[in-house]
Amino acid sequence: MTAPARKLFVTTALPYANAPFHIGHMMEYIQADVWVRLQRMRGHELHFVCADDAHGAPIMIAAEKAGLSAQDFVARIAAGRRQYLDGFHISFDNWHSTDGPENHELAQSIYLGLRKQGLIGERVIEQFYDPVKGMFLPDRYIKGECPRCGAADQYGDSCEVCGAVYAPTELKNPYSALSGATPERRRSAHHFFLLSSQRCIDFLQEWTAVPGRLQPEVLNKIREWFTPDETGRVTLADWDISRDAPYFGIRIPDTEDKYFYVWLDAPVGYLASLKNRFGKLGLDYEAYVADPAVEQVHFIGKDIVYFHTLFWPAMLHFSGRKTPDHVFVHGFITVSGEKMSKSRGTGISPLRYLELGLDAEWLRYYIAAKLNARVEDIDFNPDDFVARVNADLVGKYVNIASRAAGFLAKRFGGRVSDDVGVEGRALLDALRGASEPVAELYEAREYGKALREIMALADRVNAYVDQHKPWELARQEGQDAALHDVCSTCIEAFRLLTIYLKPVLPALAAKVESFLGVPPLQWADAARGLSHGGPHRIGRYEHLMQRVDPKRLDALFEPPADAAPAEPAAQTLPGGEAIAATIGIDDFAKVDLRIARIVGAERVEGSTKLLRLLLDAGETGADGAPRLRQVFSGIASAYAPEQLAGKLTVLVANLAPRKMKFGLSEGMVLAASHADEKASPGIYLLEPWPGATPGLRVR
Ligand code: 2FM
Ligand code: ZN
Repeated sequence: MTAPARKLFVTTALPYANAPFHIGHMMEYIQADVWVRLQRMRGHELHFVCADDAHGAPIMIAAEKAGLSAQDFVARIAAGRRQYLDGFHISFDNWHSTDGPENHELAQSIYLGLRKQGLIGERVIEQFYDPVKGMFLPDRYIKGECPRCGAADQYGDSCEVCGAVYAPTELKNPYSALSGATPERRRSAHHFFLLSSQRCIDFLQEWTAVPGRLQPEVLNKIREWFTPDETGRVTLADWDISRDAPYFGIRIPDTEDKYFYVWLDAPVGYLASLKNRFGKLGLDYEAYVADPAVEQVHFIGKDIVYFHTLFWPAMLHFSGRKTPDHVFVHGFITVSGEKMSKSRGTGISPLRYLELGLDAEWLRYYIAAKLNARVEDIDFNPDDFVARVNADLVGKYVNIASRAAGFLAKRFGGRVSDDVGVEGRALLDALRGASEPVAELYEAREYGKALREIMALADRVNAYVDQHKPWELARQEGQDAALHDVCSTCIEAFRLLTIYLKPVLPALAAKVESFLGVPPLQWADAARGLSHGGPHRIGRYEHLMQRVDPKRLDALFEPPADAAPAEPAAQTLPGGEAIAATIGIDDFAKVDLRIARIVGAERVEGSTKLLRLLLDAGETGADGAPRLRQVFSGIASAYAPEQLAGKLTVLVANLAPRKMKFGLSEGMVLAASHADEKASPGIYLLEPWPGATPGLRVR
């Protein structure tokens, strides 16, 4: 009667091993993890894997800057992954690296497969070469003057001043961003994957069109790529898959000095991580990947669709492998409407979230509540976060248990009645009836809808409690049986809601399982009652989840307290801190301090600590008008806004802008204070001697 278990191979995109995770990574992992946990609860067999995307020029260059080998650099980043994954309850079965032996072997084997099919070509191309570094320069490392407006220091692909888009070879007076040298144009033979071949085009048109494989928005995008030209022909460009040494990557077979471009071996890392897992478990990898019953599912962001719906399936197919069954694409996450930048991230650091002791399941719930199956961006909004967690999650769901557990424990020794009367049964039947619809919504990645459905069920349970008023029954004579029915109904309803929420809230569900005294809840448990195996006693009710205190969330958006000095055993000065670790003059020179005039200051509504300052550091905008900076400064306890207007102070002018709950903070002003504000509350803003003017550098 039950459907056979599915075999699922699930991945998320492999993150570049050059930076810690940002909130965008966590969103993708949460999206995939919810789906995966649903499948596991439904009894399906599943392997959920990921890996660090280790190769490529940017990582090679970053490693060199850090004075490390590329391998050590990647290992250092990889060592930091666990705390995020465990912290947010992401249940990967394996984490590997695209620099692992499995990936070297698989990438080379796929390449050889393509070559055998006649789909690899060689062509000489001309590129910029840095004679000082002795390497070909990726576009992003070439700078020069914009060929259109002449603006200096523009990147090799587009001008930040006038918006022109061009090839790096069009830049005037180009120079290498790595060495400053004038690049030479050099020729070298590159390997191409011949995607322009009719065989590839035919295959991809067919592959992408399989119903249910790709989302409608993704298909629309793909249709653009397949639009015939004036002559009625569909064309795809051949894909340059080689890079010349020095390059951190996988050597191309039968070459001495050529490596696969990182995007060739990155998706192969999905298979490599799976193979690595199978090796550890002693399972047959070849049999598994050849099994037609296995469904291969990739969760990715909208920026890497091209790689996953054209290059990747074609690589797999023409090297004689099975292709993905689903590529599930999500949008980006913004924070209070601000777009996240890959380099700058957003105002929220996932690690800081955990360090502040904020509950990981709040974020899982909030993100899940915002997700759907479309390629839409979602926004993290602090007020919305607080409302959803407090009003829905805690107010509607967690509350149900606390409303009933006390009476059951005190009055009935924790025993749950298995015959709860007509009304209770009707309510529980309705809840059980939601099992398949809710599972289908999760399956379709309509998590927002699933959670709305579950919260609507919680509303019904709360209405039932309000109607039957157990607190009144408890005071009335002869109402024991009624009280027992109502409380038992509540606890069973709570158990059912917990099953439905478990993919999103695994840690909370584990607490509930221990409180209820039941083994790990599976989806099929919705069809069975709590006491189906005989009378059941629940355990002691412990508080399951706190409400969010909005004040604690504020700290997420405030600059982190200065890091403790690195060198131990230093003498503590009257300011309450030891002198920080020694830095070189070069490190100091990185901090650009400028004289700035405070042209405006005001209190910030909703914060007792912050003042909003408007600063003139002598800058002008594109239109020639003075450009003022907004800086939020934690000096409200020490200064009234009126005291500050017109004063000069010192601004950290090159601090990355920081998105705070109240708006963007574009720098920082300098002030002296004791390390322990409570012990010694004074804050003293720095003011230069008379004569200094806005814009002067402090050194
Ligand atoms: O865009 C990125 O962050 C890539 N590192 C994703 C790679 S996904 C897969 F192909 F490995
Ligand atoms: Zn320009």
